[in-house]
Amino acid sequence: MLSFATQIAREAGNLLVQKLGSAKITNKGDINLVTEADIAAENLIIDRIRSHYPQHGILAEESGEAARAGKQSEWKWIIDPLDGTTNYAHGYPCFCVSIALEHKGVLEVGVVYDPMRDEMFAAERGRGATLNDRQIRVSNIDELSQAMVCTGFPYNVRERPDFVREFAKFTMEAQAVRRDGSAALDLAYVACGRFDGFWEDGLNPWDVAAGALLIFEARGKVTTFKDQPLDIYNEEVLASNGLIHEAMMRVLA
Ligand code: IPD
Ligand code: CA
Ligand code: CA
Repeated sequence: MLSFATQIAREAGNLLVQKLGSAKITNKGDINLVTEADIAAENLIIDRIRSHYPQHGILAEESGEAARAGKQSEWKWIIDPLDGTTNYAHGYPCFCVSIALEHKGVLEVGVVYDPMRDEMFAAERGRGATLNDRQIRVSNIDELSQAMVCTGFPYNVRERPDFVREFAKFTMEAQAVRRDGSAALDLAYVACGRFDGFWEDGLNPWDVAAGALLIFEARGKVTTFKDQPLDIYNEEVLASNGLIHEAMMRVLA
């Protein structure tokens, strides 16, 4: 199932690249966009899953409830066909396809594919995580002052000024702070050690599922802001190499 997941992520990613610059854009909210490419990539992924695994459940960002065909299934595909839509709409080349597979609520497979750099991050529970087939590990930076951390702002950021406070505090305490606009890719970057930590409050399961498995398998840590075990259906995500986790929690407290 991992190779099936990487295959459809690659196919969807190629479709995103083909449509880059020409996809029609519409507004879901004030600052929340959706493009023709989000929909086309999601349809492609769902079609492939339905023909290979017709009994499996599906939770996909753009189709909502309608895509949850196999509600009773023990298996659930969790899909973000285009994570980083605002970047995509502006031609900023930082976006990805994120696909995860859950079995009885446990994450089994996760892939994040960046079609601009042709980078395939993949993980299977208990089998480690890879980037283009090479094993990856989280970084070993153990001081927040030496760390490059990343965050994201959800679409209701204007009603939640606490994000500004957190961002400012990390700016003062970490070596560098980034806001790249694709949570799934941010998590993949923690898994391979490019980022040492990531936090965001306001995420959805399709933003988090694949990236979280990548980090677990790369020996990092993903929890809530208060160190509770990760629940991908809860909006709060604190991810790190494990070594700076406590320091990040202190900043968020
Ligand atoms: C968004 C991105 C962004 C994050 C938002 C997400 P989308 O996903 O991951 O980085 O800050 O919270 O909603 O809408 O581009 O799929
Ligand atoms: Ca997303
Ligand atoms: Ca999306």
